[in-house]
Amino acid sequence: MKNKRFKVVSLFSGCGGLDLGLEQAGMDVIWANEIDANAAETYRHNMSNTTIIEGDIKEIHVDDIPNCDILAAGFPCQPFSSAGSRKGVSDKRGTLFEEAIRVIESKNPLVVVFENVRGILSTKNLDGSLLLDSIVKTLDDIIPGYCVNYKLIKASSYGVPQERYRVIFVAVRKDLGFTYEFPAPTHNKNEKELTVGAALKNVKNLPNQEDIWEFSPQSKKLIPFIKEGGSWKDIPYSELPPRLKRIKDNMKKYRAPNFYRRFSRDEINGTITAAATPENCGIIHPTENRRYSVREIARFQSFPDDFVFVAKSLSAKYRVIGNAVPPLLGKVIGESIIGQLNAIEEGKLFDAMDRYKQLSLFD
Ligand SMILES: C[S@@+](CC[C@H](N)C(=O)[O-])C[C@H]1O[C@@H](n2cnc3c(N)ncnc32)[C@H](O)[C@@H]1O
Repeated sequence: MKNKRFKVVSLFSGCGGLDLGLEQAGMDVIWANEIDANAAETYRHNMSNTTIIEGDIKEIHVDDIPNCDILAAGFPCQPFSSAGSRKGVSDKRGTLFEEAIRVIESKNPLVVVFENVRGILSTKNLDGSLLLDSIVKTLDDIIPGYCVNYKLIKASSYGVPQERYRVIFVAVRKDLGFTYEFPAPTHNKNEKELTVGAALKNVKNLPNQEDIWEFSPQSKKLIPFIKEGGSWKDIPYSELPPRLKRIKDNMKKYRAPNFYRRFSRDEINGTITAAATPENCGIIHPTENRRYSVREIARFQSFPDDFVFVAKSLSAKYRVIGNAVPPLLGKVIGESIIGQLNAIEEGKLFDAMDRYKQLSLFD
């Protein structure tokens, strides 16, 4: 039993960040779905043991999705029209969260893993209640019910060289009799291996290192003024474009934004975003006047150097990496799930699985 590899179905799988981490933890991702062709292409290129279906999850019937032990889904976050009541969803085909629920109701996985942005903690439904509470209640209401634990996680606490916050939900089927516990942090922020300098070591000649998306003419003009560790505050006022001058003139009104952050080699880099714009994301190389390469941002996201990004356009490569769960975070979460499932007395786990005969461990 302990040597069995739990089977994962992955929805909204992107280029495979979370899924790679779950595989590294010792799970088998057997089936994945993703609507974006660029993300799916990279997924297919690197995750050769997984069947990836490219298309809209709303168009996929549950009978075409295999049974699984674990369901992973980083669904895009959309508010509900009515709290706690899925009947209240105004869109007749429901939200993307609803799509994940549809699969959970059909497959009864042992464990469900959701990943989302920090903003989900404060996202309100149209009636003013918290989306978060609706998610917990919906999972609780599904037969046989799920015990949900969620946490705002800082990826660098688990060794990812990036200040990236994400909310992870782990829901455990109630008949398993335990609530998932998040693992204790493994790293503190002063560790040298988390710095920009450490993350950028020995990238020359690696795949995707030549993939560098050029800055706009305006950014190209501004960036040479910014010192390593600096930001737009280093740019002389006279050089600023009118929009940034207006903001500088009234910093209080604009809440003192820190645009064009250029992290130093001694700092931990900020969040790598899907848009990869220098204004709002720490994407400027510390010592060269250019954007980080695709390989460099993959390093900040903890993708291994042999994971190759093959999207059609450069901007799409940046986007799929920025959207990903850092594989290392997926690995840490995956390992803790396996550990907690394996801690259940074997007979009890078998009984729980037997109750929903479709579970893949018996295949
Ligand atoms: C936050 S990303 C998931 C990242 C992924 N978990 C990873 O670690 O790489 C959300 C993904 O959902 C996909 N998506 C959005 N709507 C979808 C739909 N209707 N059907 C399938 N995938 C969809 C997006 O293209 C995007 O890649």
